[in-house]
Amino acid sequence: MLGYFLKPTIALLKIMILLKLGGSVITNKQKPLTPNVSAIKQIASHLRKIKEPYMIVHGGGSFGHYWSVKYDMHTKPEKYSTKGVSVVKNSMVELNRLVLQSFFQANLKPYCLPPTDFIFGNKPIIKKIKEIPKIANTGLVPISYGDVMWFGKNKFYILSGDRIIGMLTKILKPRLAIFVTNVDGVYSDIKTKKLIREMTTERPTTTDVKMDVTGGMNRKIKEAMSMSKNGTSVFFVNGRIPQRIVNAINGKGFEGTIIRGNKVWNI
Ligand code: IPE
Repeated sequence: MLGYFLKPTIALLKIMILLKLGGSVITNKQKPLTPNVSAIKQIASHLRKIKEPYMIVHGGGSFGHYWSVKYDMHTKPEKYSTKGVSVVKNSMVELNRLVLQSFFQANLKPYCLPPTDFIFGNKPIIKKIKEIPKIANTGLVPISYGDVMWFGKNKFYILSGDRIIGMLTKILKPRLAIFVTNVDGVYSDIKTKKLIREMTTERPTTTDVKMDVTGGMNRKIKEAMSMSKNGTSVFFVNGRIPQRIVNAINGKGFEGTIIRGNKVWNI
């Protein structure tokens, strides 16, 4: 009898976890159009240990960003070169295919969910977003990505994976959002690589490389701050050591930067 009453509570608490796989981890950001397939595979095989429903959003790295810079395309809706739009879109689909393939090979069940499925113009389609945890609850792994989006009136814009995570967090209120990057977390000083273990106020860093049209680390921190205010705990974790992602989720020996949210189920 007790079990009967407990079940719905547990289901409610299992909101889901959002993971942003940064372009800096899944590609070589210094080298145009170079995926880091072994890094993607390693992350995927570690994610097999995760028993909670989760969703992946990945970035563009040396695929989407490389072409966005080449064609001078930004986050602001404009009438960009249609050739540029086509090239950026295709490069993201190509990178997404590599991510899906690596997840398959790790015996996971990736389910491709392009942002056009749940964002119209620059507005979230709330009804569709609310279905995503249900998809994740079946054991599938929804996978979305930063993209070039149709805005209307012949305008397009670059939508970052970070922004997608921010949008999803606001609506889904997951217990945890994790930014997986190629550094240990947020540094207070980029030269000494002094790690900020817990962040409470906004602090700028300078880890960014030039090939980035969506704002790099500073933009992530801004997004993370507003997500934590909304109740979700946010982690910054080094994806080159994927066990750290698993530890962050399982609440064991966390290494990285945390911004605590204020929900009761947060760590
Ligand atoms: C960029 O997404 C998407 C495109 C350039 C089309 P992100 O801004 O999330 O990518 P990373 O993680 O910083 O590389």
